[in-house]
Amino acid sequence: LADLFGVDQVPRKGPPLIAIPTTAGTGSEVTNVAILSDKVAQLKKGIVSDYLLPDVALISPQMTLTCPRSVTAASGVDALVHAIESYLSLNASPITDALAIGAIQLIAKALPKAYANPANLEARDDMATASLMAGMAFGNAGVGAVHALAYPLGGRFNIAHGVSNALLLPYVMHWNKLACVERMQEIAEAMGVNITGLSAVDAADQAVDAMTRLCAAVEIPSGLRSFGVPEDAIPAMAVEAAGIERLMRNNPRKLSAADIEKIYRAAY
Ligand SMILES: [Fe+2]
Repeated sequence: LADLFGVDQVPRKGPPLIAIPTTAGTGSEVTNVAILSDKVAQLKKGIVSDYLLPDVALISPQMTLTCPRSVTAASGVDALVHAIESYLSLNASPITDALAIGAIQLIAKALPKAYANPANLEARDDMATASLMAGMAFGNAGVGAVHALAYPLGGRFNIAHGVSNALLLPYVMHWNKLACVERMQEIAEAMGVNITGLSAVDAADQAVDAMTRLCAAVEIPSGLRSFGVPEDAIPAMAVEAAGIERLMRNNPRKLSAADIEKIYRAAY
């Protein structure tokens, strides 16, 4: 499989593929990406090829009813990050924007409900739909720095993908704000924040606060420290994350390895 890591390394299409998601999060049923742990490199790596696009995606909330609460939370936040990063991506288009904003609206309402009552079929349905929409958005617009910074955490410390995204999301958004204040204001509104009377910058900050509140509501811990990440691992992780060009090129604000180090330290 190592030969297939990267973009367009898959030589041909495999047998017909029918994807039936059992979590509401990855959006893999509609993307050309597969993510694997490279145990040697201690990094999560992507295989990106249009040959991985499923022929058929069957979405049923029934399939997610037995998903444990912690997985519901982590995968739900992953879907939220897909939608947010697509909306802020330099490759966003009006089509991915509509999907991304729709997904953010659904997740803000449905994720707390699905977490509070795993049997709530309506909330599960909304999450399954939102995950699909966010997958279609990022499958075309791409994700950015949150995912790039999350991969070393997953690869080295085995932190669940959605959780590592959640740990970094507020700090990366804070960094990105300078480049995309208006879009972050729109994200705040999509998350149900009343931004009347707020300046654009204050409204953008509200988007970060709303995400932090949502992650706390579904009991995702914060702080890299609480996951046993040693502080002296940060410089190497920053170099690794900076090298994930496939994601970094979508991010609205550029980051050097030194900038990334600061973000990891803020999230520590
Ligand atoms: Fe993701």
